[in-house]
Amino acid sequence: MTGGPKPKRIAADFLIVGGGIAGYQTALDLLPLGSVALASRGSISSGSSYYAQGGLAIPWGFDRDAIDSHVEDTIRAGAGLCDEERVRLLIEDAEEAFATLVSYGVPFDRNEKGEILFTREAAHSRPRIVHAGGDKTGSLILKTLAQNVHGHERFTFLTPYRLTRLLKGRDGRVAGGLFMDETGEEWLEIVAKATIMATGGFSALFARTTNPPSQVGDAAAVCHRAGAELERLAFTQFHPTVLDLPGEAPFLLTEALRGEGGHVVNEAGERILFRYHPDGELAPRDVVSRALWLEARAHPESALYLSVTHLPALYLKERFPQVFNHCLSVGIDLSRDRAPIRPAAHFQMGGIKSDMEGRTSLPGLYAVGEVASTRVHGANRLASNSLLEALVMGHRVVHGIVSDRIGDGALGLVSEEERDVPRVIPTLPPGQVTMKMVQNILWEKAGIVRFLSLVQSGREEIRGYLSRMREGPVTTEGVLLWNALELSREIFDDLLVAPRVGANFFLDESPENAGSPVREIEKG
Ligand code: SIN
Repeated sequence: MTGGPKPKRIAADFLIVGGGIAGYQTALDLLPLGSVALASRGSISSGSSYYAQGGLAIPWGFDRDAIDSHVEDTIRAGAGLCDEERVRLLIEDAEEAFATLVSYGVPFDRNEKGEILFTREAAHSRPRIVHAGGDKTGSLILKTLAQNVHGHERFTFLTPYRLTRLLKGRDGRVAGGLFMDETGEEWLEIVAKATIMATGGFSALFARTTNPPSQVGDAAAVCHRAGAELERLAFTQFHPTVLDLPGEAPFLLTEALRGEGGHVVNEAGERILFRYHPDGELAPRDVVSRALWLEARAHPESALYLSVTHLPALYLKERFPQVFNHCLSVGIDLSRDRAPIRPAAHFQMGGIKSDMEGRTSLPGLYAVGEVASTRVHGANRLASNSLLEALVMGHRVVHGIVSDRIGDGALGLVSEEERDVPRVIPTLPPGQVTMKMVQNILWEKAGIVRFLSLVQSGREEIRGYLSRMREGPVTTEGVLLWNALELSREIFDDLLVAPRVGANFFLDESPENAGSPVREIEKG
């Protein structure tokens, strides 16, 4: 990008990009240290945090046994790729993260005696998930955090802005970012001593997803272009129980429904998951998604369902109000009807490589929450560990920023060329490739079960589009597409080199296993 007018300029001590739970928790901890500018693509409901239903996993009791058991479950679900030391740091910090939320006033669900209620989710060996408003945990935590931040005299909220370039100071450190509004006409430069990415994952790069449309990973692509290392991009988590109705957007049916006794059944009403894993409905998410994929391939004429009709209707309405009401709005009464399901892309274990204090490979740039790859989730994240990570890392990144003595420094001096609003970007002639086409390529060729031939052809397609790009006018759509293609190239490259475990499972590398139960394939 070169040449152009100068953008409007804002300076703050700290710049946070992204307004989900990780971003707001970081803002709360940074405000005592200096001014905070938070740039977001939209309101709090535009990102994934708002839609988190299940809850927050914590090692309740917070003693050695509770912590060890939570660590073990996390590592088991992670299919051997978790960094154990980091997992332990995450789980040990859960007590502080939870206590902070209680002190802010998050209305966690309690029984009539005032005791916190827990639920169980798949791959957890005990009930340890706390929730709020039944299945509204993400939105209630986020609203509470945001209420505690907005109105603070040192806080500035900037929306709707998308990061389009990281700014670097003359010393080479990241010194803020250049943002574009929704129309592509208004540009904003935010300079800061530390820039914290909290933009969430990129599951909306896949055609079928539980994520809101904004989650296409553009900020991760921008950081990569500036030199930030990305890693583990092959590890996409596909959520198994996502409502599948013609003409309706995919809608998450929380894992807690299975944790509380829901059954996954075929057309004949048979519970199919025990054929694939001894824990049946409580098997890890990646195993259940692959089982549904294999089942659908073996019996394409038969739909698969989540059934909770054996649970009391009143309980369903009160414990899962959001899910219950959504299903009713599309003609499914969960107390009487089975809900048709099909997996969808849900969460990214990989992202911007970062340590447990949010440091990335670029000085001055930090990452927290789903956009970061801290290696705590391995190849498949344990249910409800994502909100925990967002909160814990929101605290820990501030320790990192303090110990790096960022607040003591001056704002980076950004050169005039760095500040230019771009006049051109790499583009393709209209119609050659659309975001929908990229999303279909990822869904079909980097999906729940991977085939080497498909991964190779997806990689070629994406590289082909990139090689045909030429300089063209800057439009919002064009910037998003450029970022989507560059990130997709990195994902396909990683698919080929990442270990074939967990979410990066290749079916055709052991042809003798084709069609066999996942359990047996995994043993092999
Ligand atoms: C769910 O409620 O099933 C999703 C929670 C999570 O992603 O851990």
